[in-house]
Amino acid sequence: MNNVTLLKHPVVSDRLTTLRHRDTEIELFRRALRELGFFLAMEATSKLPLVKSRVVTPLGIEVDSEELDSAKVLLAPILRAGLGFVESFLELVPRAKIAHIGISRDHDTLKAMPYLNSLPGNPEYFDAIFMLDPMLATGNSAVKALEILTEGGFKPEKIILVCAFAVQEGIKQVYEKFPAVHIVTATVDWSLNDLGYIVPGLGDAGDRLYLI
Ligand code: URA
Repeated sequence: MNNVTLLKHPVVSDRLTTLRHRDTEIELFRRALRELGFFLAMEATSKLPLVKSRVVTPLGIEVDSEELDSAKVLLAPILRAGLGFVESFLELVPRAKIAHIGISRDHDTLKAMPYLNSLPGNPEYFDAIFMLDPMLATGNSAVKALEILTEGGFKPEKIILVCAFAVQEGIKQVYEKFPAVHIVTATVDWSLNDLGYIVPGLGDAGDRLYLI
């Protein structure tokens, strides 16, 4: 797992527990996912380039400084559940652009079926692309979204896949096709069940975020 970063932090463990718990109701679930998203965003953005600047402090002293150009960040949330991380990332990179990627999964074949993509046409402009999907399960949706991004001209080495829950099957599928992509996750769970759900996981992330 050389290109996988696994978060380790007591607050992360606590929020994972909240998300896993079947009795966690919608308001708390949303909040826990958003808070977990802050920690993932902190890690995922840790290698963003800085640009040199100079500021004058209230003491009238001019000092060499550095700042982020967050307009050069692209967030690519995979609908629906990826939307749960958008606010967390915007706290850190407030001028990031957002390209929604809609992918549903066929419940019988588990195949990923794209239905929306609002990618910008200037891929070379961006320093980093954060592909947001709380659940890296079979890897089918992630690979499909990566195909959409790379066909749109985005370089795999600039893409970071940010998830909360991952399993080895999904990680393996992503790396077989896109070895240069970096994955940041909060946990690597046991396995997948026959329906393609992560075990123990949290159930259906989109349903828990929007419907239950
Ligand atoms: N998507 C989900 O929402 N949950 C899973 O366990 C796997 C994929």
